[in-house]
This record gives sequence, structure tokens and C-alpha cells, in this order.
Amino acid sequence: MLIFADTADTALLAELNETGLIDGVTTNPTLIAKSGRNILEVTREICAMIDGPVSAEVAATEFEQMVAEGEKLAKIADNVVIKVPLTVDGLKATRVFSDQGLMTNVTLCFSVTQALLAAKAGATFVSPFVGRLDDRGEDGMQLIRDIRTVFDNYEFETAILAASLRNTTHVAQAAIAGADCATLPPAVIKAMFQHDLTDKGLETFLADWASTGQSIL
Ligand code: E4P
Repeated sequence: MLIFADTADTALLAELNETGLIDGVTTNPTLIAKSGRNILEVTREICAMIDGPVSAEVAATEFEQMVAEGEKLAKIADNVVIKVPLTVDGLKATRVFSDQGLMTNVTLCFSVTQALLAAKAGATFVSPFVGRLDDRGEDGMQLIRDIRTVFDNYEFETAILAASLRNTTHVAQAAIAGADCATLPPAVIKAMFQHDLTDKGLETFLADWASTGQSIL
């Protein structure tokens, strides 16, 4: 499963990218607003830093304007993925981008039927939002499992990009469900490295090693 960082904070991204484990980035209007920066400038900076796909979301809701915005975003760099909302106009724009060979990420997906339409529109990625379904008492992860089944049934090539993942349990479940990618807030990526038994075990190993008085180098 590819790991994408869900952030427009370039300082945090640079730190995460040093691990060599970040496969791509997703942003959205909320994250751009949080960064306090211009979308074109921040997307350019992220694309130069990260080799993989970088999603930048259109702000328009009407088809022609979406296409114009998407084409402008795509010109920033070859690894830009045009992110569009899962609406009728969004899917019409997805088809146009797809026919031009541009990468797309259809976002705000909350049902299997929406995902099916995104795949039929030729989306490169579809982003089902797990946490926001959980927030209102539904089983968000079941959506990932169901989309996996449908995409496998019909051999759709659209990648399932599990989004709105809030903790490491979500990440593990998305991987078990067969999501192709997961986009994660930096805090969740950092939490993936952690286990109290790792810390405890290392403490013991270091103390025992010190007692030997040896040095490997
Ligand atoms: C990514 O594409 C989404 O915008 C993001 O994962 C949404 O997460 P949230 O529901 O925690 O805001």
C-alpha cells in the first residue's frame, strides 16, 4: 500500500520525506487554507520535493471552470494529480482530464456507487473518506472493502486511495482491506513507527550491550 502524506505543510513534509517512505502527497482546500500559502506556489514546492503523485484540488464546482483550473494545476509539474469532488460536473471533468492523459483523484467519495462512477469516468484515484463516515456512526472501513470487491469484480484500474484515516488502526485495516494507497496526516505517519515494546526492548538491549564493553566499529 502506498503511503501519501495528507498535508500542505512543506516543513513537516520535508521531515517525513527524509525517511524515504513517502510515496505521494494529497492536499485539499482546508489544508491549503491552514498552510496560509498560495496553492500554485505550495503545490510547485511539494512537487519538486516529492517524486510521486501530488494531489491539488480544484476550487470550482462548475464543469468548464473545473477543467480550466485543473489544466492550470496540471501545468505546475508532471506529478500533479488533479483532485476533483465527486459531483456530476466533477466526473465530467474527470473524463476530460483522463482523455488528455492527466492524472485525477476523485475526492469526497462516500458510497460504492459513487466509486463505481469515478472508475467509469477514468479516475486514476478515488478517495473514499473513512473517518467522516465513522464520525456519523457508519462503518467507514466497510466502504473500502466493498469498493475493493467491486473494482476487482470488474477489473477497474482506478486506485483506491483510503482517505480521512485518523489513526494507525485505520491504516492497518485499510491495508488488510486491500486499499492501494492511504493518505495520512503527518501525526498518523509518525505514530506508525511507534510501539511501546520496541522502546522497552531497545532500552534492555542497549543496557545489556553496554555491560559487554564491546564496540562494533
Ligand atoms: C484527503 O484527500 C482528504 O481530504 C482527507 O483525508 C480528509 O481527512 P479528514 O476527514 O480528516 O479531514
